[in-house]
Amino acid sequence: VTVVALAVGGLFTWWWTGADVSTVGKEPFGNALSIPPLAKSYVDKDGTRVFDLRMQAGETEFEKGRATPTWGFNGSYLGPTLRAERGEKVRVRIGNGLDEASTVHWHGMHLPARMDGGPHQMIAPGATWSPRWTVDQPAATLWYHPHPHGATEQHVRRGLAGMFLLDDEKSERLDLPERYGVDDLPVIVQDVRFDGARFAEGHGTMQDVGFLGDRTMVNGTLSPYREVRDELIRLRLLNASTARTYDFGFPDGRAFSLIATDGGLLERPAAMDRVQLSPGERAEIVVRLRAGERVVLRSFPQDNYGDAWQRRFAGGDDSFDVLELRAAERLRPSPELPSVLAESETPDGKDAVRGRHFDLKRSGINGRAMEMSRVDETVTRGTTEVWTVRNGNGMPHNFHVHDVQFRVMEVNGAAPPPGLRGPKDTVFLPNGTTMKLALRFDGPADPDTPYMYHCHLLFHEDQAMMGQFVVVEKGQRPGAPSDHARRE
Ligand code: C2O
Ligand code: CU
Repeated sequence: VTVVALAVGGLFTWWWTGADVSTVGKEPFGNALSIPPLAKSYVDKDGTRVFDLRMQAGETEFEKGRATPTWGFNGSYLGPTLRAERGEKVRVRIGNGLDEASTVHWHGMHLPARMDGGPHQMIAPGATWSPRWTVDQPAATLWYHPHPHGATEQHVRRGLAGMFLLDDEKSERLDLPERYGVDDLPVIVQDVRFDGARFAEGHGTMQDVGFLGDRTMVNGTLSPYREVRDELIRLRLLNASTARTYDFGFPDGRAFSLIATDGGLLERPAAMDRVQLSPGERAEIVVRLRAGERVVLRSFPQDNYGDAWQRRFAGGDDSFDVLELRAAERLRPSPELPSVLAESETPDGKDAVRGRHFDLKRSGINGRAMEMSRVDETVTRGTTEVWTVRNGNGMPHNFHVHDVQFRVMEVNGAAPPPGLRGPKDTVFLPNGTTMKLALRFDGPADPDTPYMYHCHLLFHEDQAMMGQFVVVEKGQRPGAPSDHARRE
């Protein structure tokens, strides 16, 4: 009996010590936070705002004297922040300066399927792809990243990701912190693990969830701090990690205001003290600072991972000190937050014409592994549907749908918590979760070009947990998925 107990105890020790990656209290916050520059753009003759992005390989000194091989857009790591307004025509010219094919996907953007940058829009090395569309959705914090089938985790991990901010007329009139890099900060959170100067390869022991790092960085800065001079600071949180989920808050338990989720502003600010983000999700929060204080944005251990089996996927004690805000001795007063932010544009599901079910499993969605040539679902342009998504797979997953911002109607039969009441394109489903989502597909129809839905834990997405849907006109049949690689 003793021998067995020791053996079992030993096994647990190996699990937990191997997985304890807490950085709480260990980080010195010695590096000034880098802020991705706003991308330059110009407006061409027909009024289109044009951006230039180039995927390239390079080296980044995350720590002094250690050059890490990385990828980036227009630089060695991450990319500039694109910014456009509702109603604007945009075009992005993307050059591939890598020696591998990749894609660039506009996560959260409502746009035609062939502009989406999914796995059917590969950009060959040396080629340029120039998608164009009209911004037709509310102000939001969106992002862009590669989406080549089977290699998304690697391409994102190497550094290909950036923010895409949208504004609209109403959001511009609101009294919110909105000076980019001053009182309105992009916070791109990623976890990393180094092997000498290089990024560690592989997923490590028993990390079937995909790659998990042992420390975090923000905007490519390790142990970051930011000096601020305003009472209210808006943080645009983006979980750009490949597999790790965070539960953000502050060590003193102070409340903050959640003002936006993935697809834009809530109807009214919600007072919260934690906001949980799985890979791909965004949240905009506004926090109040006192003069002279230092406040740490922390990710706390997550209760809803449930049992030990699930917690293992989070990396044991998965606490991280993510970013230190250093308030100046004198702060500029900020106006109170508006009590009303926006009118909801997500469907309530009452006019849904059909329901679908999605069962999430490590081996595939609805029992099928991703197949590039197979269209899994066909939806009719201009209709609303209710999708029931279930995870009973014993490990955490999430669920992302391209092209739309949906409403969470129910979580395990109950009304959604405040953090899930805004427009969403990605939701976290710990084991034992069923969610009902209302989605409206308002087109354009393109029977030949699929959009994706998938688990945004990128290793799962790469391997199997992705499916394809097309939007068609009523009565139209789906075509055979075609590819739209561009060579110039
Ligand atoms: Cu952020 Cu299909 O991806
Ligand atoms: Cu998954």
